[in-house]
Amino acid sequence: MSFQILGTGAYVPEKILTNEELSQMVDTSDEWITQRVGVKTRHISVNESAAEMGAKAAQRALEAAGISAAQLGLIVGATVSADQCCPSTAAKVQQAIGASCPAFDVNSACSGFLFALDTAAAFIVRGGIEYALVFGAERLSRILDWTDRSTCVIFGDGAGAFVIAKGENYLGSHLFTQGGESVLAIPLGKGNSPFYEKEVAPLAVHMSGQETFKFAVKQIVGGIRLIAEQAGITTDQINWIVPHQANIRIIDLAARRLGIPMEKFVVNIERYGNTSSASVPISFDELARSGKLKKGDLIAMCAFGGGLSSAACLIKW
Ligand code: UT7
Repeated sequence: MSFQILGTGAYVPEKILTNEELSQMVDTSDEWITQRVGVKTRHISVNESAAEMGAKAAQRALEAAGISAAQLGLIVGATVSADQCCPSTAAKVQQAIGASCPAFDVNSACSGFLFALDTAAAFIVRGGIEYALVFGAERLSRILDWTDRSTCVIFGDGAGAFVIAKGENYLGSHLFTQGGESVLAIPLGKGNSPFYEKEVAPLAVHMSGQETFKFAVKQIVGGIRLIAEQAGITTDQINWIVPHQANIRIIDLAARRLGIPMEKFVVNIERYGNTSSASVPISFDELARSGKLKKGDLIAMCAFGGGLSSAACLIKW
């Protein structure tokens, strides 16, 4: 039912920021970040917008798929850190790669890529579209408070993309939203409106780390069990799990609760940090290009974040 992945691509900006460099900026240490989060370095965009990074990941996915931008029938993008809310990041990617199809963004924070993938899958099922591009692209460095050590050490910038086509390889999917902004929010500020009465928090990532942590572990475990059930398999039949890279301890705890060995989890948080909606497609692209995948492998992807939201899906390679 639904789709198959024809090609994947990823892009991260050139500048690398180390934990040692961060320790000069805020009161933190390599030891704390490594042990509590699992990040050693992250890539930071100096000049590129989320859309520019998304376009580079998209080009690589198109090359891997062996199709041209002109053949795309749909582009769905995910981001929470675009330089502009209009045009959409997807519209900017469409222009940059030379496509002419409808293009729009979805916003489901760190789960955004999987929400976008499921949206594109629905369009493919509806018919009339042969190829779709789905991407997650984030320039989180522009929305972080670089004086807040509880958030600025965690995140990084980058983009990842899939080209998909009609196929039979989408075996299960679960999307979840639990509305509320007390745990995780990115307020936009209020411009210079003279009509606001309430105080508006400044543009920045505001996160209650421990609440998000608990939600994340619960949703990964529940999501993976659900998609396995949908596909009529047991969780130990899953060959690879591509999780959102938010904290190595979240992945480790979820793996233990599921009874799935860590070797099956794709982990690159030490190099990229948390790239929000880009984290699953970047990680998937690394797996796809590693030469480790065999035809027929079952791959679960799962993500969680602001909304609160979470998503999981199962595909056959
Ligand atoms: O993608 C969106 C989803 N986001 C997530 O999934 C994030 C989930 N949450 C987490 O990954 C973790 O909760 C954090 C990494 C955000 C925080 O780790 P934690 O183990 O929950 O630490 P904490 O917030 O309980 O803080 C422990 C201590 C505090 O000091 P005291 O009060 O014990 O003296 C913090 O002030 O660590 C302190 N701390 C730091 N120390 C050094 C917080 N940030 C830092 C830091 N460097 N960067």
